[in-house]
Amino acid sequence: MDPLSPLNLVLPLAILLSSLLAPPAIAMPSIEEQAGALIAWKATLQTHEPLQSWDRKAWPCHSWRGIGCGARQGKLVITKISLRGMRLRGSLEVLNFSALTMLTSVDLSHNKLTGRIPWSGASLKELRSLLLQNNNLSGYIPEQIGNLVKLRSMKLNSNRLSGCIPQEVGNLAILEDLRLGINKLSSSISNSIGNLAKLSVLILWGNQLSGHIPNNLGNLTKLSLLDLCHNQLSGHIPQELGYLVNLKGLRLCDNMLSGSIPNNLENLTKLTVLSLYKNQLSGHIPQELGYLVNLKNLSLYSNNLIGLIPSSLGNLSKLSHLFLWHNQLSGHISQELGKLVNLENLDLSKNMLIGSIPNSLGNLTKLSNLLLWSNKLSGHIPKELGNLVNLNNLSLADNNLTGSIPNSLGNLNKLYSINLVSNQLSGFIPQELGNLVNLEFLEISLNNLSGELPSGLCAASRLQNFTADHNSLVGPLPTSLLNCKTLLSGLNMLEALNLSHNTLNGSIPPSFKGMISLSSMDVSYNNLEGPVPHIKFLEEAPVEWFVHNKHLCGTVKALPPCNLIQKGGKGKKFGPILLGVAAAAGISVLFITALVTWQRRKMKSEEQSENGAGNTKVFSVWNFDGGDVYKQIFEATENFNGTHCIGMGGNGSVYRAQLPTGEIFAVKKIHMTEDDELIFKREVDALMSIRHRNIVKLFGYCSAVHVKFLVYEYMDRGSLSRYLENHNTAIELDWMRRINIVKDVDNALSYIHHDCFAPIVHRDITSNNILLDLEFRACISDFGIAKILDVEASNCTKLAGTKGYLAPELAYTTRVTEKCDVYSFGVLVFELFMGCHPGDFLLSLSMAKETLKDLLDARLPLPETETTSEIFRVIMAAVQCLDPNPLHRPTMLHVTRMFSTAEVHGNRDHLHADIIIPVFYQ
Ligand SMILES: *[C@@H]1O[C@H](CO)[C@@H](O)[C@H](O)[C@H]1NC(C)=O
Ligand SMILES: *[C@@H]1O[C@H](CO)[C@@H](O)[C@H](O)[C@H]1NC(C)=O
Ligand SMILES: *[C@@H]1O[C@H](CO)[C@@H](O)[C@H](O)[C@H]1NC(C)=O
Repeated sequence: MDPLSPLNLVLPLAILLSSLLAPPAIAMPSIEEQAGALIAWKATLQTHEPLQSWDRKAWPCHSWRGIGCGARQGKLVITKISLRGMRLRGSLEVLNFSALTMLTSVDLSHNKLTGRIPWSGASLKELRSLLLQNNNLSGYIPEQIGNLVKLRSMKLNSNRLSGCIPQEVGNLAILEDLRLGINKLSSSISNSIGNLAKLSVLILWGNQLSGHIPNNLGNLTKLSLLDLCHNQLSGHIPQELGYLVNLKGLRLCDNMLSGSIPNNLENLTKLTVLSLYKNQLSGHIPQELGYLVNLKNLSLYSNNLIGLIPSSLGNLSKLSHLFLWHNQLSGHISQELGKLVNLENLDLSKNMLIGSIPNSLGNLTKLSNLLLWSNKLSGHIPKELGNLVNLNNLSLADNNLTGSIPNSLGNLNKLYSINLVSNQLSGFIPQELGNLVNLEFLEISLNNLSGELPSGLCAASRLQNFTADHNSLVGPLPTSLLNCKTLLSGLNMLEALNLSHNTLNGSIPPSFKGMISLSSMDVSYNNLEGPVPHIKFLEEAPVEWFVHNKHLCGTVKALPPCNLIQKGGKGKKFGPILLGVAAAAGISVLFITALVTWQRRKMKSEEQSENGAGNTKVFSVWNFDGGDVYKQIFEATENFNGTHCIGMGGNGSVYRAQLPTGEIFAVKKIHMTEDDELIFKREVDALMSIRHRNIVKLFGYCSAVHVKFLVYEYMDRGSLSRYLENHNTAIELDWMRRINIVKDVDNALSYIHHDCFAPIVHRDITSNNILLDLEFRACISDFGIAKILDVEASNCTKLAGTKGYLAPELAYTTRVTEKCDVYSFGVLVFELFMGCHPGDFLLSLSMAKETLKDLLDARLPLPETETTSEIFRVIMAAVQCLDPNPLHRPTMLHVTRMFSTAEVHGNRDHLHADIIIPVFYQ
């Protein structure tokens, strides 16, 4: 350098001056110091594998994974850390950011980092983006965060941060995206957030924030998403929010907000989601909401709103979800609602609505749920409802409806539930309801229905619950309920039948024996007579189900015996033999072999059974002597000793059991009450009859007094989740193997949804339930068990869409369908290619689309072009599986087709293609 260059003169002077006038300027750490800080941090981590390339001997800027450099003041410095989803375990606190002052972006999201956000972070004056979401960080958000004045994006969501949101956040003058959702933040929302004039996304949902919503949030006119749901905010909704003309989503749900809905929201014309549900809002629904013409989702349920449903809502032609239930709305339902032709969900239940159901609702042909129960509606059920060809669920219960059930409902072949309980309906039950091949619930109790039970009902072969008690039904029970000529085999899926309090006569047809799924049958208060058909479960049935009839006899223990003696079936002989075996073993053992097949779920094809030879060997061992196998399993697991435990499931622990014959099984010890046992046995029989390459084989189960267990095929490599968790095994799962796993799971799901005689919903597709064998064949396990043991039932009520695999519709219905599995499958595909569970990432995608490259598991090298195209195709199918509307989700058959036939555009740059997921904000 020229010794006379002005720089040479100015620089020392500047240094001299600054050391005199200002606190000593910190010299920029050398690249060695910067690298040293990273190496020191790496040494504290429990996972080193992902950071193997971080080696003192190598030059960090070129060869260290996730590290980017740039030039500053003529020197090379580290400017980027980008280690998303590496499964890094350890504390963030020990990372010395003071040595890394030139960082412009830090992405350590989707790891397992613990500890606090380090104070030294305050030295990152150049930082533009700080992404620490989806970790286990705890402690307070340091107030020094306010020094990061160049920050544009700060995502700390999905951690365990506590304390308040520091006032100093208000200093981040150019911040655009602030996400602190799903933490444990408390105290009130700092006023200073109102200073963040550039903010476009503010997400604070899922914390414990209290106090009022600051009025000055109304200054944030660039905001497009404001999400404060699931907190403890109180006070009014500030009028000032009406200034946020760029808002697309305004979510204040599940707080304690009171007062009325501001009537000046009419300028928020970009709004697509307005969620104010679960608050204490009162007053009228402002008719100005009718100006929000882009609204797709209006959720005001569970408040104290009064008055009419404004007819102006009829202008919201893009609306797909209108949830107004559980308020005190009164007056008529406006005919105008019939203009909402995009509506998929209409729920006005639990209000005080009067008048009749408008005919115009028949125009809403996209409607999937029409719920008007618990109101004071009168008049007839409009026959126009028969046009709602997409309807799944119709509930008009608890109203004052009169007239008859329209025949036209028989057109709605997607209906799975009709509930008309507690009205004043009269006339006959239409034969046409038998056309409803998807109907599972038909509840028409407490009406004035008359005539006979229509024999045509037998065609509704999926019916599970039929309640028609408290009507004026007459005549004999149709013998044909099971022998429908037109369709398969009648009501053999019926579980609950209630015909009590009618005037039925004659005898119960012997054909009722065919209702093999029945678990309750109430025919009390009728004029029935003769023998109760011999169905095993009825022997123990409460006599209340049969009281107040003419003369019913037999089967049920509490009923008088009939003269005619019923002959015992084969099952009776089987019992004593088993008991003998059990007695010999000194314990009560009930052993079920796979020889028992279950007619109801008999497979259409059995070609899938590849390992037939292996099976017979196993079964022969089984069949010799139930008691012996039982003993062997006890010995092999040393009385279920922890050392043999290979995993924990939702409903029990899994053990590895190697029998003296050399065969290895996975044995799942389960917990269950005695009451569940009968149902359990029946379901297990069904499951044992299923043979598919991608379903873990269930060989049998043992049920003794003090222990119950299921015996499964042993899968050498264990669960997919454990495989993805560990760095070394994750690398073994290369892209092709991951693609094949997706296809395996797809095959299995297609099979249980579509190829079994009666479709089965798995209900619990997660990476924990996908097991791998030596060849990386993936099998789904534990299916059907979730239902029997009701493991997931309690989950249905938890926040949908946070962490997990639950379909979003489970937020407003407890109904689990095949489409719930499809959703979980979509999540699984993302998990597989990202390498970690997407977490609330799925929610954030709607706002910030991602490229495929940014999504892919960074532990693997980027895939080749051809593989990339295939991954892209699979991901795009998964995106469809995640559609918030179950109707729009493909079936698994359709998914299979998408995998195999979709065009691959080899020349497209799939790595940089955008992935956008449609999100359901309720
Ligand atoms: C952090 O880095 C700075 C700058 O290199 C250094 O002065 C300081 O001693 C380091 N702190 C620790 C705890 O290592
Ligand atoms: C921000 O909002 C407050 C209260 O609504 C108001 O008094 C103030 O003038 C606003 N500030 C700016 C810069 O608009
Ligand atoms: C059948 O309905 C009646 C009246 O609603 C009810 O009392 C009874 O418990 C029901 N029976 C069963 C088995 O659920």
